[in-house]
Amino acid sequence: MRNERLFEKDPHSYYRPGQPRMKHLRWEVEVDFAGRRLSCLAVIDFDGGGETNLDLRNLEITGITDGDDQPLTYQVSLSHPVLGECLTLTVPDGKPQVKIHYWTSPQASGLQWLTPEQTQGKRHSYLFSQGEPLHARSYLPCQDTPGVRFTFNACLTVPEALRGLMAANEHVSREIKDGLAVEMWRMTKPIPSYLFTLVIGDIASRDITNRCRVYAEPELVDAAAAEFADVGEMMVAAEKLFGMYDWGRFDLNMMPSSFPYGGMENPCFTCLTPTLVVGDRSMVNVIAHELAHSWTGNLVTNATWTDFWLNEGWTNYVEWRICEELYGRDAMMLQAALLQRELDRDFRDLAARGMHQYTALGSYVPGTLDPDDIFTRVPYCKGAQFLMKVEEAVSRERFDAFIRKYIETFRFTSITTATFLDFVAAELPGALEAVKSWRWIGGLGLPENAPKIESPLIVEVERYAETDGILASDEARGWSSNQWLLYLELVPRDGLKSEFAEELDRAFALSTKANADVRFAFLLLAIEAGYAGANDAVANFLSKVGRLKYLQPLYREMSKTMAGLAWAQNVFARVRSGYHPIATAQVERILGEAEKRLAKI
Ligand code: BES
Ligand code: ZN
Repeated sequence: MRNERLFEKDPHSYYRPGQPRMKHLRWEVEVDFAGRRLSCLAVIDFDGGGETNLDLRNLEITGITDGDDQPLTYQVSLSHPVLGECLTLTVPDGKPQVKIHYWTSPQASGLQWLTPEQTQGKRHSYLFSQGEPLHARSYLPCQDTPGVRFTFNACLTVPEALRGLMAANEHVSREIKDGLAVEMWRMTKPIPSYLFTLVIGDIASRDITNRCRVYAEPELVDAAAAEFADVGEMMVAAEKLFGMYDWGRFDLNMMPSSFPYGGMENPCFTCLTPTLVVGDRSMVNVIAHELAHSWTGNLVTNATWTDFWLNEGWTNYVEWRICEELYGRDAMMLQAALLQRELDRDFRDLAARGMHQYTALGSYVPGTLDPDDIFTRVPYCKGAQFLMKVEEAVSRERFDAFIRKYIETFRFTSITTATFLDFVAAELPGALEAVKSWRWIGGLGLPENAPKIESPLIVEVERYAETDGILASDEARGWSSNQWLLYLELVPRDGLKSEFAEELDRAFALSTKANADVRFAFLLLAIEAGYAGANDAVANFLSKVGRLKYLQPLYREMSKTMAGLAWAQNVFARVRSGYHPIATAQVERILGEAEKRLAKI
């Protein structure tokens, strides 16, 4: 199979194809909560000797030796704002092993150090890592490109009261020594660096099925186990589509509320925002999504961040298929309609930032651009709709056979968009032409042949959004969270009055709903309507959750006017110490861009 771009350089890594690649890692870590640092030894086995490059960000290297503890010479480049530093060394030929002793920085972009007050239990410190897309290099010197995979053994030394968890398929042991716990993990399946993850905290667990257990702070663990009771059925539905689940366990970890994502698909150990624990299972599509990544993303991986839609578009398509199987086609279509509204918002935002080219699935992401800065629903929603379109063109039966062959052919490899398109051309002749694939991969916006997203649940909501009978509606009292979300997206913004937002909240108590997506969508509408009565609720919400999906639109909407920008800056100054470094960087970018835009007016 042709896979030409694998021989080209990933613009987001200093690693150059042809150089020795890391194959296995032995990682020894001691955690220092007081100093907010990890003291680490990384013993890396390569596939051969010679000069090679590793990615670093802000690591303090204290020594590098070969496998026999003889010092090695090395160089560290100046820091690049997106890529960090390049570590160049020569891997010995006979025994291609290198040992790196280093400290992480208290400012590591991929680590969040939480004080006890920032946790649910308020008794113990907490630490977690987030690798995707370019943050693994801030806690591990590695070839931080999704084109390189490695297995690992890890040994975490943590305070005795805490657990030291990793995204790995075998928990080898936990031993207590001198008031410290030593936890050993082994990952026997090769992973790309962006999935390399650790979590340390006061964590309990409950088994949901024989393959899935939920980890959470003790306060949350029972509620979480109840919320995710559908996971067994989801795994059955996913295996029906994809073939056997390859990773052994599918455990879930409820993160602190500052976790910047809804979910992160770290293998064997999906990390989730605690806001998913609503009480009514209304956000379990996130579990279906992260589960789907076990195949599309973790088994078949994007070769570079330019090919990100191969991870997220595929996963989103499969998330929809799992939801269709479990909750029916109408509910699935409603989910799709919602994502499409978010996509529209992203199209508008990209256009306003002069970055319209990133509405194409195949748009090249250069090394000078941080993938975090162009994170949108384009790879997700446009990607999933492209695949839906191919399914429509060839029939579900043929497409399902194609999915299995795709996974089987490329498992444990990293592929480019070109490789994917070649594979479709070979397996489903004529399909790319039938769906006008060039419009999806190279064209801007949503192609005119996009599949129809239809459901009676959508029609009912649209009817109320187009007229103004909602306040007197009994029907709306029975709406699901997703119907409310769609309604709040569809309410026309032209001539939107602050009184309307106020009355809507009085009638349906949207600002206090259990589902955080609904609370967020209402608060966004309230800001757009200029309803100042919701300002305290907005500030409060921004101090309680760290999910970027909420923070970005809220800060963006707040900072559309001079007065609003001052308010946003004020709120951010008060709450930023609780945010993850990734979230802090994004809010700073949004407020900085708003300041520049408003200065021009
Ligand atoms: N892998 C992503 C999260 C991610 C993307 C982290 C890019 C860092 C960089 C994860 O699978 C995801 O897509 N999460 C979504 C869930 C949703 C689409 C159901 C989220 O967090 O909103
Ligand atoms: Zn995803």
